[in-house]
Amino acid sequence: MAQIIDGKAISQAVKDEIKSRTAELSAKGTEACLAVILVGEDPASQVYVKNKKKACEYCGIKSLSYELPADTTEEKLLELIAELNERSDVNGILVQLPLPKGIDEDRVLDAISPDKDVDGFHPVNVGKLSIGKKGFVSCTPAGVIQLLKRSGIEISGKECVVVGRSNIVGKPMSMLLLQENGTVTVCHSRTKDLKEVTKRADILVVAIGKPKFIDASYVKEGAVVIDVGIHRQDDGKLCGDVDYASVEPVASAITPVPGGVGPMTIAMLMYNCLASVDA
Ligand code: GUN
Repeated sequence: MAQIIDGKAISQAVKDEIKSRTAELSAKGTEACLAVILVGEDPASQVYVKNKKKACEYCGIKSLSYELPADTTEEKLLELIAELNERSDVNGILVQLPLPKGIDEDRVLDAISPDKDVDGFHPVNVGKLSIGKKGFVSCTPAGVIQLLKRSGIEISGKECVVVGRSNIVGKPMSMLLLQENGTVTVCHSRTKDLKEVTKRADILVVAIGKPKFIDASYVKEGAVVIDVGIHRQDDGKLCGDVDYASVEPVASAITPVPGGVGPMTIAMLMYNCLASVDA
């Protein structure tokens, strides 16, 4: 039986730690404040933003909400970001992605002050991560590291294989595992013999965006398997990039979907919001 890595419980522990630290800050008259910008009416984004605001409330972080119409121009959005960059009472700025067509996402993310970039998407923070300097780290991969550490899983010296090379998950994930002294391989759609590589992994992190793609034939006996994917199936149930029923019997530890990596992303956003007070 694999150890089930309980992301719900671990994310709750992280949020409770943040809550007590914001209470200490508040006693000293300091408040963390996150500005959340949502452009348009994408239903999934609306749910994410609602959950982020709820987490802020729980953690004692003030949140400001900017809900802009879908036809907002890039210039207007950049003006708002410039204004929030200047405000000393705003520590963190988050622009929910994706943005409506016609708005240049890179230009918008680059406009956020690196000191307020709680998503860790700004090139300055991405660069800092790659050279091991302190900065904001993308929340999902940071959450994966917390899941491993808080589950007592050693990373140092392990063969770590990351499947997926996105800017938000795969690339920062590989940097973080490297920082923890893992031996890291990154696979992607052009990887020749994917199975051969994934079967080497002591720690396998899967972020490819394909439902139940990784079955037991990709996994070494006793591997730790972290599933970053989340998909809604035809029957309405959620599943990950990993075929849980197939992989769980061969893994030594595994994250479920839902209740694995997912809840950690928001917990790490709260962590970054708290850190933004000192940035
Ligand atoms: N859209 C999907 N995931 C994310 C995220 O982590 N941050 C932002 N800003 N938008 C997203």
